[in-house]
Amino acid sequence: IRNLYLVRHGQTLYNMEGRIGGDSELTQQGLEQAEALGRHFRGFSIPYIFTSTRRRSHQTATPIYQGQDHCTVKALSEFDEINAGICEHMRYEEIKHKWPNEYRRRQKDKYHYIYPEGEGYITMKERVDKGLRKALYLSGNAEALMIVGHQAINRMILSYFLFRRTEDVPFIYIPQDQYFHIVSTQKKKLFEQVRFTG
Ligand code: G3H
Repeated sequence: IRNLYLVRHGQTLYNMEGRIGGDSELTQQGLEQAEALGRHFRGFSIPYIFTSTRRRSHQTATPIYQGQDHCTVKALSEFDEINAGICEHMRYEEIKHKWPNEYRRRQKDKYHYIYPEGEGYITMKERVDKGLRKALYLSGNAEALMIVGHQAINRMILSYFLFRRTEDVPFIYIPQDQYFHIVSTQKKKLFEQVRFTG
């Protein structure tokens, strides 16, 4: 049996402003979510945590790591959020005004759309696969590992376990007050969504 805990970073300034991309830090609420995760996981054994290279991911992992007796934390750039290219740091409304064609094209086919000078869900898949392989390799035979990822990253990872059509993957709901727990046995995969605040 192997347990995968898939966590999304807590609320950031950019989340509050509706901006995408960037490397903003957690807000007070985000820090509280991270603390709540730390308290929640204190009774669990999480020997490996994989973050992205972004501050919000690392800040979220910190209280979880601090609540563990033995835990290795490793940042993998493969788990960095989708690169929105020319649209990084913008609000969707701004994108709609500044790049109306891009906005429309993404609305039409979000999975296959690739941001100019950036990525799309379709092009991100390969690096996320690579990140997962790395994480599984580095955690060896450990019973549990955690990934503290981002919205698009977690959607992609979840799509390996949920049977969703490709075009639905960019719309999977990834809340910031819940995490996903995937248990793999030789025969099957069990899946639960756990609320850790409120
Ligand atoms: O760009 C950052 C978002 O987390 C991805 O959201 O693919 O729904 O625009 P989106």
